[in-house]
Amino acid sequence: MYKSEQLAYNIKQLIENGSLKANEKLPSLRDQVDRSGLSLMTVLNAYQELESQGLIYSIEKSGYFVAGIFSPLIPSNPNPTVALNAKVKINSLVFKYLKSIQPSEVVPLGSAFPNHQLLNPPKLIQIMGQLTRNRQNFEQNNNLPPGNFELRKLIAQRYCMQGIPTQPDDIVITSGCLDALNLSLQALTKAGDYILLQETIFYGAWQIAERLGLKVVTIPEHPQEGFDIEAFEQAIQTYPIKVCWFMLNCHNPIGFTVNEKIKFQIAKLLHEYQIYLIEDDVYEELFYRGTKPLSMKYFDQHNLVLHCSSFSKTLGSTFRIGWVYAGKFSEHIQHLQLMSTISANTLMQNALVEFISNHHYEKHLRVLRRNLEKNKRIFFEYFKKNLPAGCEIHNYAGGYFLWLTLPSHISSMTLYEHLIQQNIGVAPSQLFNVQHAQKNHLRINCSFAWTKEIEMAVKQLIKYMSKLQN
Ligand SMILES: Cc1ncc(COP(=O)(O)O)c(C=O)c1O
Repeated sequence: MYKSEQLAYNIKQLIENGSLKANEKLPSLRDQVDRSGLSLMTVLNAYQELESQGLIYSIEKSGYFVAGIFSPLIPSNPNPTVALNAKVKINSLVFKYLKSIQPSEVVPLGSAFPNHQLLNPPKLIQIMGQLTRNRQNFEQNNNLPPGNFELRKLIAQRYCMQGIPTQPDDIVITSGCLDALNLSLQALTKAGDYILLQETIFYGAWQIAERLGLKVVTIPEHPQEGFDIEAFEQAIQTYPIKVCWFMLNCHNPIGFTVNEKIKFQIAKLLHEYQIYLIEDDVYEELFYRGTKPLSMKYFDQHNLVLHCSSFSKTLGSTFRIGWVYAGKFSEHIQHLQLMSTISANTLMQNALVEFISNHHYEKHLRVLRRNLEKNKRIFFEYFKKNLPAGCEIHNYAGGYFLWLTLPSHISSMTLYEHLIQQNIGVAPSQLFNVQHAQKNHLRINCSFAWTKEIEMAVKQLIKYMSKLQN
């Protein structure tokens, strides 16, 4: 164990056994250095690790504090089991939900996309404007699968910078991340195959499994680590799993990021059992503590991981540009693409090449992360002060969602159905988890500035929660 991990572990023990109380101030970095004899960097790393796990929080110029109402534990199934969900049926529910939150008058606390005011950077719009004025840009057809070479080169460079050797030919450009995930699962499975999902997962995974007629095995979340490595091993020993689909960085909807030790163990087991992994890493750029978390692709020595991502959460969901690190599956995926979406938008691919190669993307990401962190903190503070007793907030250093746990007798579906009548959208846990016991959580999109309208909507949400509780 590194020294910073040891220090983080010691502090975590003190929090979990109650020696350090909610909102208690931790020793300053300097004091901790003096007490422990460790370097400032080591102490800082330990504090940042605890912050990323949501165990402590920082206030500018005041220091670090133990998190309050906020639960260090990931809400998990009260009866954690590896479960087989042979016939998945979720498409109608997701369809109805997405339709209901679409109208512009609905307050978008249930949306999966960040506040569009933080996206669509003016420089990118300007580049698109310039490109649309040149007729030649509409006549090119060199962006057919696998997609624009220059864009694939830039994406490959970004992988290389994270220590993942990548060639442009490993990458296939797709129409967003969902297209990448869809094509990958289609390439690796046939109807009736077994796949493995985390128990709580982005509804897109359930939808695609339903469409492809797959048998879904799930593993429960681990209350501390997010990912339960023992349940994973048990599942792959019990069922003939062909493919896993995991989200391990800034998980949607819960928000946690799984540590590197566990990612390494997952990679080892994938190799041992020869199972492919489709990695949904669409929030990979939205961490905001320390360095960017590593993807599973980093730990993949045997080409078993298909890494999927997009620009939807960082630049804009309407651009519909994503990619898959397909490696040896590139040809197969291109074949499937030519039979479905054909190619991703050509003009947009050209615009992204210019935007990224002129270093506008990194600058935009820095501002975006800062704003998302700031906005989420305001929501968090408000919920912390005002949520009725018996509720918990799960807050992690990244993304823009808060995951709320309500007392177990309250169904988040009832809350959603009531609030949508008042044009307030919230995402109930039934969209992400098909286990009946997991019905009392809500995902709240906190990427918005704290306006009067947002405050009113959050007040209504809390008021109705309190009413249901009594
Ligand atoms: C976890 C997750 N994966 C994939 C997607 C799909 O991303 P895209 O809009 O790029 O298709 C979303 C969108 O909400 C998401 O939340």
